[in-house]
Amino acid sequence: MSVKLVFGTQWGDEGKGKVVDYYAEKADIVVRYQGGNNAGHTIKIGDEVFKFHLLPSGAVRKGKTAVVGNGVVIDPEVLISEIEELRKRGVEPNLLISDRAHVIMPYHRMLDGAEERFRGNKKVGTTGRGIGPCYSDKIARLGIRMGDLIDEDALKERLEFIIPLKHRIFEAYGMKERLDIDEVFKEYSEYGRYLKDMVTDTLEFLQSSTDREILLEGAQGAMLDVDFGTYPYTTSSHTIGGGASTGSGIPPNRIEEIIGVVKAYTTRVGMGPFPTEQNNEIGEHLGERGHEFGTTTGRARRCGWLDLVVVKHALRISGATGIAITKIDVLEGLETVKAAYAYDIDGKKKDSFPASLKDIDNIKPIYREFQGWSMTEGEWEKVKEEGIEALPENAKRYLDFIEKETGVKIKMLSYGPAREETVEL
Ligand code: IMP
Repeated sequence: MSVKLVFGTQWGDEGKGKVVDYYAEKADIVVRYQGGNNAGHTIKIGDEVFKFHLLPSGAVRKGKTAVVGNGVVIDPEVLISEIEELRKRGVEPNLLISDRAHVIMPYHRMLDGAEERFRGNKKVGTTGRGIGPCYSDKIARLGIRMGDLIDEDALKERLEFIIPLKHRIFEAYGMKERLDIDEVFKEYSEYGRYLKDMVTDTLEFLQSSTDREILLEGAQGAMLDVDFGTYPYTTSSHTIGGGASTGSGIPPNRIEEIIGVVKAYTTRVGMGPFPTEQNNEIGEHLGERGHEFGTTTGRARRCGWLDLVVVKHALRISGATGIAITKIDVLEGLETVKAAYAYDIDGKKKDSFPASLKDIDNIKPIYREFQGWSMTEGEWEKVKEEGIEALPENAKRYLDFIEKETGVKIKMLSYGPAREETVEL
């Protein structure tokens, strides 16, 4: 078995979908292992644009098996609509769904909204898809798993126990809504019937696929990790490399290559700290050239300079063996380009990411400044043929700095949304 892992090193939206799709060409099996339909990735194949929230990116490639692992939380209505969307375009996904994956239920979405309202001006800015409440129930052992969804007796039993309990929580939040157990059962048992043939013990499948190439596809980014990110302004899953093992059942020592995806600058959606944010014309340049609007919520992303303290933190925790740089083209045309490599926190220099929000609020990024550059199509063709050496000197200096600071080799450079706009190094 040769297993490769791709994960995000920032606050998500690093361009993982494209990197995964590129590597998926050589893989037999593509596995998603955490998150849910809070994620969104866009893949461009020829003139066709595919937007997924739940399906692994590899699902559009013929002959691949796409796996939704046990660590994912699944909104069955969304999953079914993505399968239907693919079918409409003539693609029949070869999809396996873990019977251990948890199901996002209507009360999870309702409570996501209620909790956010309760937080007032300290809200997380969630995607509102019920992700946090679903993971909370998983940990509290109050969840419904895909194995229950396809078993009517089990589903009924779980709903009869859980819904009255949720009603008490609704009451505490002052919510007037109530759910009808029979209606929820009717709707969700129908989803169960639709998905039944795809739900299986994916662990057994993955462990018996030792002679095949497996690609593990991360969602979100390391700074949204519930333990290592900017807590509580995080998502509710493990977005660092380690999440791939717990979310798929593939042991850590079987993962041979770990690729951290680094966008050439930084973005963040939702609330929470962002030390290198540029709320000015630099941020506007990055947002406009980079089309930085969320795939899932359509929200404009906050933009800023590359933060190598963040990237080092992510690569270190995840044991990265390589970096994929994305959207390097977005930096073209700027007079100067900056990258933070350390922080000044209350007069002390630090090059690791602190845990406390108070410390994070006091971060003053320490930047290295680079002269800008621009490139033509033809120059990119030359880079494709001759490698990184053919880049303009200023761009090379920027990339050299990333490698030197992180101590991790750049293995891929992406300069546009299309599959062809990629250089492997
Ligand atoms: P949740 O995952 O919906 O609970 O949202 C928690 C935080 O993670 C919010 O700040 C979201 O904007 C952020 N988030 C969740 N998924 C993504 C993603 O795929 N890209 C970027 N940010 C995300």
